[in-house]
Amino acid sequence: MEKLVIEGGKPLSGAIRIHGAKNAALPILAASIMAEGTFTIENVPNLSDIHVMLGILRALGCRAELVGDNVIVSTNAVHQFHIPESLMNQMRSSIFLMGPLLSRLGRVELYQPGGCAIGERKIDLHLQGLAALGAHIEENGSQIVCTANELQGAEIVLDYPSVGATENIMMAAAMARGMTTITNAAREPEIQDLQNFLNAMGARIIGAGTDTITIEGVSELTPCTYRIIPDRIVAGTLMIAAAATRGNVTLEKVCPAHLTSAIHVLKRAGVQIAINGDIMNVCALGRPKSVERIVTSPYPSFPTDLQSQIMVLLSLADGVSIVKETVFEGRFKHVDELSRMGADIRVDLNSAYIRGVPRLYGATVEATDLRAGAALVIAGLAAQGSTVIEQIHHIDRGYDRIELMLASLGAGIHRTTPVPTE
Ligand code: EPZ
Repeated sequence: MEKLVIEGGKPLSGAIRIHGAKNAALPILAASIMAEGTFTIENVPNLSDIHVMLGILRALGCRAELVGDNVIVSTNAVHQFHIPESLMNQMRSSIFLMGPLLSRLGRVELYQPGGCAIGERKIDLHLQGLAALGAHIEENGSQIVCTANELQGAEIVLDYPSVGATENIMMAAAMARGMTTITNAAREPEIQDLQNFLNAMGARIIGAGTDTITIEGVSELTPCTYRIIPDRIVAGTLMIAAAATRGNVTLEKVCPAHLTSAIHVLKRAGVQIAINGDIMNVCALGRPKSVERIVTSPYPSFPTDLQSQIMVLLSLADGVSIVKETVFEGRFKHVDELSRMGADIRVDLNSAYIRGVPRLYGATVEATDLRAGAALVIAGLAAQGSTVIEQIHHIDRGYDRIELMLASLGAGIHRTTPVPTE
């Protein structure tokens, strides 16, 4: 298996461009099957999750390929409504195909996406939303069959502002008959990107970014060319890496407005941040300060996807910090690995009590999920000595060759490829 090897203790410095957002690209690629024709989707990151989604689109009958950072997808021949369990198991974001397939073919067959390292990941809010739009849903064991002769607009209130459920309902409602409102909708920037993409296809959606989204169903959507927003979580990860290594890094093509809560926390930790349009400079000359309390919750609050990364910075801070995780019930699997590197963290239910230490020490550690893996990379960059990270396929799901990004900023990091055994 490939591994990352990191020689710690080198402050990051230099400039780097932020690639497109995984969590915007995935639903947008799924939505493309709602219209017949050829799309050009720009600023798509070269990630394993993206390649899985392109594989699913091809399995459904599309032609889809990543050329540089543009995806060209042709959807004329979409004919398949069955999503293979093997592909569902590779990536739970396959769930985003429910709304589009129901809209295009009136049927979708898929499987309950399994839980993962960060939690149960239920899809009840997705199914309730689609049922409210008139879909008939049958669950046979792990298989789910959804059918709808015609989708009807509805007033939908989400029990929780689920990102995926909001996106699935938006897509299904875009060509439903009549008006749909989603109350208690998720407000993430990726929802706004999906709204803008669907409207570029001819949909009539307003309100994304607020807790109420209104969709006026239209009879037809058409292909378009669209550019994906920058990845705010990749940007936040690099900001925290700059701070943890006491470096000075400039991020380019970033959207600071998508990172308000993370910027606020980093400033409280003593990090200097300067913003000039889509350029952000992050500079940390000394030891970080502790931050009394950080609570993850839906946007615009502090994002759960930066929780494991900020915990690394706080592990090096001068003082005690508390991080409370309220979005996913199992998102502390990185704590054991950080403790093996010398961090002093105690977990009690969904809160982590972090007592800062002067330094971390390199070790051989294992990535358990995407953002936990990113956190271990940051820990290795800051640690004294050498760190080896295993199971790095998790990291490749959300970061386009993270070792090249970081090496371009002066990090001592490389990827080992296994020597083929005889
Ligand atoms: C999206 O996941 C992101 N993934 C996640 O990013 C992100 O952490 C999450 O939103 C929260 O911001 C993509 O966009 C591809 P949710 P999603 O539905 O849509 C519960 C990363 O690292 N829930 O908002 O699955 C659920 O169990 C990934 O890039 C239900 O109970 O998130 C969880 O506790 C990780 N029933 C909470 O809501 C449902 O039907 C948040 O889930 C749906 C969700």
